[in-house]
Amino acid sequence: MTIQATSHSPIVPEAATDRLVHPAWVRITHWLNALAIAIMIGSGWQIYDASPLFSFLYFPRQIALGEWLAGALLWHFAAMWLLMINGIVYVVLGVVTGRFRRKLLPIRPHDVVRDLAAALRGKLSHDDLAVYNAVQRLLYLGVILAGVVIVLSGLSIWKPVQFWWLTDFFGGYNTARYVHFAAMTTIVTFLTVHVLLAIIVPKSLRAMIVGR
Ligand code: HEM
Repeated sequence: MTIQATSHSPIVPEAATDRLVHPAWVRITHWLNALAIAIMIGSGWQIYDASPLFSFLYFPRQIALGEWLAGALLWHFAAMWLLMINGIVYVVLGVVTGRFRRKLLPIRPHDVVRDLAAALRGKLSHDDLAVYNAVQRLLYLGVILAGVVIVLSGLSIWKPVQFWWLTDFFGGYNTARYVHFAAMTTIVTFLTVHVLLAIIVPKSLRAMIVGR
């Protein structure tokens, strides 16, 4: 069937509006990850308060999860399994299906500067949701890396005897705690921008829910 243009109805080919942007495995792992991260961050803040790294910083109980240290640890260790298993599934499928290569690479500094400038002027196009701009690519790859660092540094402070080589790699138990905290800060900063953008461009949120 051919689609005729009229002066009243702009042609939007069906293929462009109804194309699969995010396969089911991306959507399922994405939302499971969002749930796991929310639990990990909330309970992590409660655990932090029991032994703060910085004298000027603590997290109010209202935004922390678990009521007290033991409760928070239970939440943290439960969601840890979800985060790790779900994260491994996402990364393995991302590599094996070629999604990471197709969607997140290449990242050229010149493109990042150009797209960032366009975004700040409100001139970045969101017409084709299937193609990530250079800033998105950098942020998504960055947060995936931050996810790997937060899991590995977490393992190194959870089992510093069994994973002594990992704890060594991070420069010892105390340094690993700072690395863990820095990765959390990176993820929270990413999320602030990420969720804001999802609200500003609701069709991208729809695509991450229904796929198209
Ligand atoms: C309520 C929380 C969240 C919302 C509303 C949200 C929303 C979205 C949306 C709409 C997209 C698609 C972007 C686009 O097509 O332009 C997306 C992709 C993505 N999000 Fe989130 N997200 C949330 C939580 C998270 C968390 C916690 C992480 C990781 C820490 C994360 C990491 C990613 C990544 C890596 C992608 C790219 C996925 C891919 O294409 O393989 N998101 N998110």
